[in-house]
Amino acid sequence: GAAELGPYRHFMQKEIFEQPRAIADTLQDLDSVTPEFFGDGAYSIFTETDSVLILACGTSYYAGLTAKYWIEALAAIPVAVEIASEYRYRTSVPNPRTLVVTISQSGETADTLAALKHARKLGMQNTLTICNVATSAMVRECRLNFITRAGVEIGVASTKAFTTQLTALFLLALSLAQVRGRLTEDAEAGHLAALRGMPGAVQAALALEPHIIAWADAFARRENALFLGRGMHYPIALEGALKLKEISYIHAEGYPAGELKHGPLALVTEQMPVVTVAPNNELLEKLKSNLQEVRARGGQLYVFGDTGTRIPSEPGVYVIQLPEYYGLLSPIVHTIPLQLLAYHTAIARGTDVDKPRNLAKSVTVE
Ligand code: G6P
Repeated sequence: GAAELGPYRHFMQKEIFEQPRAIADTLQDLDSVTPEFFGDGAYSIFTETDSVLILACGTSYYAGLTAKYWIEALAAIPVAVEIASEYRYRTSVPNPRTLVVTISQSGETADTLAALKHARKLGMQNTLTICNVATSAMVRECRLNFITRAGVEIGVASTKAFTTQLTALFLLALSLAQVRGRLTEDAEAGHLAALRGMPGAVQAALALEPHIIAWADAFARRENALFLGRGMHYPIALEGALKLKEISYIHAEGYPAGELKHGPLALVTEQMPVVTVAPNNELLEKLKSNLQEVRARGGQLYVFGDTGTRIPSEPGVYVIQLPEYYGLLSPIVHTIPLQLLAYHTAIARGTDVDKPRNLAKSVTVE
């Protein structure tokens, strides 16, 4: 009802704005990294882990894709990320030392539960879930768990569940790194300080809402959009495209920017908005040359650039400036404006934001 919405128009908007609180609650009073975040017995399981297999669907799958970058970079453990409904129906090569990680807001998604059972049947007993519902089937079925504290999520399009999943997955990467002797005390302190700064960084990104509202009308008139990102921001581009599809019904695709020239560049005309996630990191110069390729073909660029990226606004290039680059946790910060863009575009199109057509909050059929 209206009371629960407070000053917000939709649950999705409320949930977007709850993210600083949701992330802070998920972190609790974090003062050191320990495998015990994930339950009793996590230490011995993490010690024998030589690879990670992440299984999930939808937005949770994109959280998994982001985690691959973190776990490989911090813990040096190879990670495979699979869409649950694909994994269970193919012949794969099981490894009993694999840590199987399911990610699910609801903990009831039938495909993810079935994929988990499939992995177990193949002999992989080390299972962990990152889940938002403590009483769910997923939590009961996994040996280890981490409960995200997003709180009840009502909007069908997932927002606060995603950023809390990312928070939990970053902790998982740190814990795996620690167990493998790859986390110095200095590094631990630095990452923890960055995590504690997350709610504030997300708050700063939320403050960009008026600038994003100013883009929404132009967006609402399009039928297609491309979302570009590179590296650990590629999954964020995928998630941005998914959000736009789900609630505004605009066809959108996420692409790693370096792959543009191998296909999607053929789609670029003045009619094609190209949303770009532009963190101020080592890939920036490469990204800028990708953006030149789009401009040369008349594509309309909508750039979310960190402070210091120096991408000037000009006709056909619209830039919203984010705060400074947030290091490895930057994907969380860059998620926020993409959520807001999807939300305000959907508002401009007059769709049913909290209950988009044909979609369900929790898909309990395979
Ligand atoms: C549905 C929802 C999505 C969600 C996906 C996975 O498709 O509409 O928002 O990402 O299921 O749900 P889960 O609860 O497993 O994270």
